[in-house]
Amino acid sequence: MSIPIYTYDAIIVGAGLAGCAAARQLQKAGKNVAVITKLHPLRSHSGAAQGGVNAAFSDEDSVELHEFDTVKGSDYLADQDAVEFMCQKAPQTIRWIERMGAAFSRTPDGKIAQRPFGGQSSPRACFAKDRTGLTLLQTIYEQAHRVGVKFWDEWYVADLIYKDGKASGIVAFNIRDMQVVIFNAKSIMFATGGYARSYKVNSNAHANTGDGLSIVARHGLPLEDMEFVQFHPSGLSGNGVLISEAARGEGGYLLNSLGERFMSKYAPNAMELASRDVVSRAILNEIREGRGVGAKKDAVYIDVTHLGEELIMEKLPELRDLAMTFLGLDMIKDPILISATAHYSMGGIPVNIDGNVRLNNDELIEGFYAAGECSCVSVHGANRLGANSVLEALLFGRFVGKTMVKEIESIELRPATQADAQTAINEIDFVLNNNGKENVPELRKELQQCMTDNVGAFRTKKLLDTAIKKIKEIRQKYKNIRIKDKSKVFNTELQEAIELGHMIDYSAFIVESALARKESRGAHYREDFESRDDENFLKHTMAYMDKNGEIKLEYMDVKLGKHELQERTY
Ligand code: FUM
Repeated sequence: MSIPIYTYDAIIVGAGLAGCAAARQLQKAGKNVAVITKLHPLRSHSGAAQGGVNAAFSDEDSVELHEFDTVKGSDYLADQDAVEFMCQKAPQTIRWIERMGAAFSRTPDGKIAQRPFGGQSSPRACFAKDRTGLTLLQTIYEQAHRVGVKFWDEWYVADLIYKDGKASGIVAFNIRDMQVVIFNAKSIMFATGGYARSYKVNSNAHANTGDGLSIVARHGLPLEDMEFVQFHPSGLSGNGVLISEAARGEGGYLLNSLGERFMSKYAPNAMELASRDVVSRAILNEIREGRGVGAKKDAVYIDVTHLGEELIMEKLPELRDLAMTFLGLDMIKDPILISATAHYSMGGIPVNIDGNVRLNNDELIEGFYAAGECSCVSVHGANRLGANSVLEALLFGRFVGKTMVKEIESIELRPATQADAQTAINEIDFVLNNNGKENVPELRKELQQCMTDNVGAFRTKKLLDTAIKKIKEIRQKYKNIRIKDKSKVFNTELQEAIELGHMIDYSAFIVESALARKESRGAHYREDFESRDDENFLKHTMAYMDKNGEIKLEYMDVKLGKHELQERTY
């Protein structure tokens, strides 16, 4: 039976802030756009962003300070041209989304309210209570609909159609009935989000399985800076669910079992509002040295009780609900238990400042773009500042959409053929019919445990070697999987098996890139190489995977600029 081929001007994969923003730009400019998403768009993980979105608005702040904080926060690995672009365009991007209807919290005199976040020189995070991402996502999704973007909800993208330096479509299946379809277009954008689900304790949605990254990598294309995984300081103890940095931004304290505000030892000036990598390591260090709290002594307290009920109910209502639901603790009366949780991927699909995906250090791929967490532009370098991710997704989604509008005119459509779907069909057939004995959820647990135990906030050669060996074993076992559900109706078992294949692939990138980076920089902390080594490692990792899953590493220069290298202290 032949596979339907649908043709659009542009295809966008993922319906979070980046995807919706780009789609809206394209459709508004008269292009015919389809957004393909494995979820309902409003369940995209952008909606889980709580605390804020950065823009230098106030009289005490400036674009230059925003740039400086971002570059310093990145431990100098960010590309400064991209950081400058982002920080300069931030205020107008906030105004843009506000004009489209996003209701930000206000100051008493009617300005957009801004709260302090970690690593910032001035309160800079614009917010909508502690539901910022959801507010922005609802706005941009509505606006994309308004201009006529076609959303294909609950379609799973299984492959990119790519050949000889040019992308020309994707292959997807309908999660409802497994119908396979080819989407052919001049211009394709990936906005597929992050991948922290490969860790046992993480703050991410179940959908954040990094499919987009592995789909790209399986074509022999590079992934950049995959070793840099952010551990957010405050995940709820036990399940890692995010307790926004807003809790510290509004004045919350971190306390150990002795009741000490222990951040005074690690970041005497910024205290709880040091950058995330610093605060997460401090928390884990307190726990390692026996000053943890809770039944297993594997958490610390975040205490906001002194802020009072009125402020908590006005500015942190979601956080209070989360702590009550999962821990049975009311933040108004009690400190709550938190620890570091895998949260964000600084690395990803390498792109230039216009969102064009890189074929290698020097060349770009025609008709292929990426934006948001799945991409690496690189504005976050080795460590992202809180509230810069929502900004990056919205802002680069918006501007990459504009670039696509411009470039689409000079791109020729390469017509798709039935053969383009073959890899995806083979993968589906393998997962559906393989008659092995390995169980997918068990293998996933093995992978997540391995990543949490060996590739966390503290790393050593020994741990990373263990992870490499374990991932190779898991890869072998994956060849021997068997799923029970052989049906074609909402076969989530099949989808989870495909997702696990992706998780194995990009986890190998994280570990191999981390092993080769023999220094500590930002979120990548090697206990066997504790210093930053600018002489040898002030460079981006570019990693490529061969057909056997072996990873080869190359490096790419960092774009330096006016913010000179300094020792990073808070
Ligand atoms: O803590 C938070 O609200 C998370 C924000 C972010 O990751 O930027």
